[in-house]
Amino acid sequence: MASLPPTDPRRLYVGLMSGTSLDGTDAVLFDAGSRAVLGHVHAPFPAALRDELLALNAPGGNELHRAALAANGVARAYADVVAQLLEQTGTPRSSVIALGAHGQTVRHQPGGFDGYTIQLLNGALLAEQARIAVVCDLRSRDIAAGGQGAPLVPAFHRAMFDAAEQDVAVLNLGGISNLSLLHADGRTGGFDCGPANCLMDGWIAQHQGLGFDADGAWAASGEILPDLLAALLAEPYFALPPPKSTGRDLFHLGWLQPHLAPDARPEDVQATLLALTAHTVADALTAHMPQARRLIACGGGARNGQLMKALGRLLPGVTLASSADHGLPVDQVEAAAFAWLAHRFIERQPGNLPGVTGAAGPRVLGALHPA
Ligand SMILES: Nc1ncnc2c1ncn2[C@@H]1O[C@H](COP(=O)(O)OP(=O)(O)O)[C@@H](O)[C@H]1O
Ligand SMILES: [Mg+2]
Repeated sequence: MASLPPTDPRRLYVGLMSGTSLDGTDAVLFDAGSRAVLGHVHAPFPAALRDELLALNAPGGNELHRAALAANGVARAYADVVAQLLEQTGTPRSSVIALGAHGQTVRHQPGGFDGYTIQLLNGALLAEQARIAVVCDLRSRDIAAGGQGAPLVPAFHRAMFDAAEQDVAVLNLGGISNLSLLHADGRTGGFDCGPANCLMDGWIAQHQGLGFDADGAWAASGEILPDLLAALLAEPYFALPPPKSTGRDLFHLGWLQPHLAPDARPEDVQATLLALTAHTVADALTAHMPQARRLIACGGGARNGQLMKALGRLLPGVTLASSADHGLPVDQVEAAAFAWLAHRFIERQPGNLPGVTGAAGPRVLGALHPA
């Protein structure tokens, strides 16, 4: 009689995240048993796909056709990074239980009777190409239950970062910034604060032809424009109480445009956009967790030294740490969260926190394309 193979004590998932910054895909191999990241690959999108995904964030012609093609493009881009990740880590595809695939957000309109969110990804094509089960569309169920569908990372942050002794806040600086509030008494909060890299990236692309402002050096060469900063901070979103989430639907260069003086120097605008990110985060933390003494930063914006300095100045009593200090490099946290969410789906465990998203209750998040 054939004996069964020994049970693999590891539970391997791949998390695939491509965020609002549109800098490409982060893929991690995640062991849900030990909650460890075992490998990471980042790949930019092909330039034409990136341009089209950016364009699809705004209304345009023949959108259904273009969105379907872009969803195919995202699936192929994801399949490529999965192949790289499996090769790099020597992992047979049969040992991966599922891919937790975010897709590319092009619209985020939660709330109300007709709320929806769109993450472009052809999950069926990804399952065909990767020959691994795909868990995707991870936000829609929370919105169907009356929630924001975002942020989803606070539950993962709660599982990963120790907040038993003191209240801890986790700050993700992606295209948009979001905070997770991990109270020592077990309560977890979280919401999107506002724009982080999406405006700074767009502005430096327009004026310097660069993808992003490395270390915030260009911003540091300018002066903050106090009137512009005050006008931007008057945006009603910042004062809304949670639950709340946002995206490029609101925060795009067209949002900035009406506030710009014609003679504003581009580097001064960049300095002001960096200050806007720092102020909106600091204000949100002060409003919702004034007692926080530890802030753990992650996401690509955590590599922006000027931004981190500005945050430090606005939050003098708070120790600024990096997720890397807690064993998770800054560009792996979000992808690991989506691997963890796939694991939650496979185990039929809820992935959302109703206290964060505002959903009517805990829900199993995601839709499955079997291998
Ligand atoms: N060295 C750096 N200096 C400044 N900004 C950086 C640096 N590295 C990455 N970034 C920023 O981080 C962004 C990517 O962050 P990421 O966490 O992947 O965001 P998203 O989840 O929206 O994709 C880039 O677009 C860029 O703006
Ligand atoms: Mg990214």
